[in-house]
Amino acid sequence: MLGPTLLAASQKPQVRRLVTTVPVTRQIVDRFVAGEALDEALAATRALVDAGMTVTIDRLGEDTTSPEQAAETRDAYVQLLDVLAEAGLADGAEVSLKLSAMGQALPVDGEQVALANARAVCEAAQRLGTTVTLDMEDHTTIDSTLSVLRRLRADFPWVGAVLQTCLHRTEADCRELAHEGSRVRLVKGAYAEPDSVAYPKKADVDLAYVRCLKILMNGAGYPMVATHDKQMIAIAEQLAAVAGRDRDSYEFQMLYGISTAEQRRLRDSGARMRIYLPYGSDWYGYFMRRLAERPANVAFFLRSLVSR
Ligand code: FDA
Repeated sequence: MLGPTLLAASQKPQVRRLVTTVPVTRQIVDRFVAGEALDEALAATRALVDAGMTVTIDRLGEDTTSPEQAAETRDAYVQLLDVLAEAGLADGAEVSLKLSAMGQALPVDGEQVALANARAVCEAAQRLGTTVTLDMEDHTTIDSTLSVLRRLRADFPWVGAVLQTCLHRTEADCRELAHEGSRVRLVKGAYAEPDSVAYPKKADVDLAYVRCLKILMNGAGYPMVATHDKQMIAIAEQLAAVAGRDRDSYEFQMLYGISTAEQRRLRDSGARMRIYLPYGSDWYGYFMRRLAERPANVAFFLRSLVSR
């Protein structure tokens, strides 16, 4: 219950002001975010690639309210890709995009604006030899995001998508996307969703994760198993073995700063391990979702507030 309550509270301006102004927040944010500046993201990416992992970089931002802001985000992504290529990191690092940051929620032609901006980022990625994955936001955006995905894939068939197993619709979406060349990042889902569209109980989200994994592992696409849940990881490995997949035909993904021992264990076992690395100054939404995922994180944050 704490997670949805915290996510709802995080929308309030007073909560945002409190969280973003208390000095103690900074240290906790640093655990989950690789820095505010591009060179900090680059250094963290290099360290992970040198350690035998791959990376997907998220330039933080989600509440874009003008076409100018969306264009600025697009340009920042293109610059990020150029810098990655110059640093010789385009092989080991791709980018993750939120369509809301590209303008999807703008009142006039939002989807078209987001498509045009995402297309420019995909063109840069193609030119530099890397890939793009579209993050998935709350359930109201999914049809639009999948429609943008289809249109991008017509020109850039390597564009990946995220599917969230907390939603009733997702098994059907997995079936649609389990085809040759399709890259699907399977997650449990980080947004507060109504019971009309989502499973309220975590146990049901986990069971749905297993059903979706089965579909993806038995399909012809490239599954990206994005979870820190050791049970799901073990099941994914079993399903991959039963489906006769070799270890290069799927990968594990985890968030920067979370379950680092498990990240290293999987890398050492010979699995492909990719880290989702966020950077930038607009960290509030991302940070609140990380707090909401785990009561222990909220307790730690609250203890830090009172003990400072
Ligand atoms: P679960 O929540 O069951 O956690 C399993 C274990 O992982 C916990 O017991 C704990 O040890 C550890 N853990 C999990 N979260 C933690 C945290 N915040 N802090 C510390 N430890 C934690 N969601 C979404 O809606 N849209 C998206 O586009 C994405 N993108 C995305 C990319 C990648 C690469 C990952 C790994 C995750 C996402 N997510 C996401 C987030 C995802 O939906 C989910 O909220 C988190 O991954 C947490 O769920 P788990 O699968 O880890 O399981």
